[in-house]
Amino acid sequence: MTYPICLYGNPVLKIKAGKVKKDKVDVIKLSHDMFETMYSADGIGLAAPQIGISLRIFVIDGASLDEKDLEDFKRVFINPQIITVTGNFWEFKEGCLSIPNINEFVSRREEITISYYDENWKFHTDRFDGMKARIIQHEYDHIEGKLFTDYLSPLKRKLLKGKLTSISKGICDVPYKIKASK
Ligand code: NI
Repeated sequence: MTYPICLYGNPVLKIKAGKVKKDKVDVIKLSHDMFETMYSADGIGLAAPQIGISLRIFVIDGASLDEKDLEDFKRVFINPQIITVTGNFWEFKEGCLSIPNINEFVSRREEITISYYDENWKFHTDRFDGMKARIIQHEYDHIEGKLFTDYLSPLKRKLLKGKLTSISKGICDVPYKIKASK
């Protein structure tokens, strides 16, 4: 099943998500539904708070970016922990399914090491760089209650204020199911 995607302004996007408990959550079903929701919205990443579930889980599938490196980068991250963030900062225009039709440059570091469980509760510790590291950092921010707009300069945010207010009221043109704050 697909869920509606919570939009900017919805309080669930601003709170730190709780740990996924193995005996309480069917992560196979949840991750399946998250992928389905993400594909329906043409996204490359989706975190549980974006569907109104305040849990530390996100899914990524980079195939649609059409980059060799990302072709088979499909993964579920459960209770992830970023261990190190290293390398140089680089800028890239990011977008977010919760903030439709806004793309802004965000500066992030090149490399991360992260530990996490997959949907079979297998534990991993992996190093990622480049676009993979960027997507993971963006999704990880979601479970920490952070959005890419939090990185923008006060001026930039001021310029976007009208658009963001509209989005928070559910006034935006998107081809997927959405849920505004009220
Ligand atoms: Ni996002």
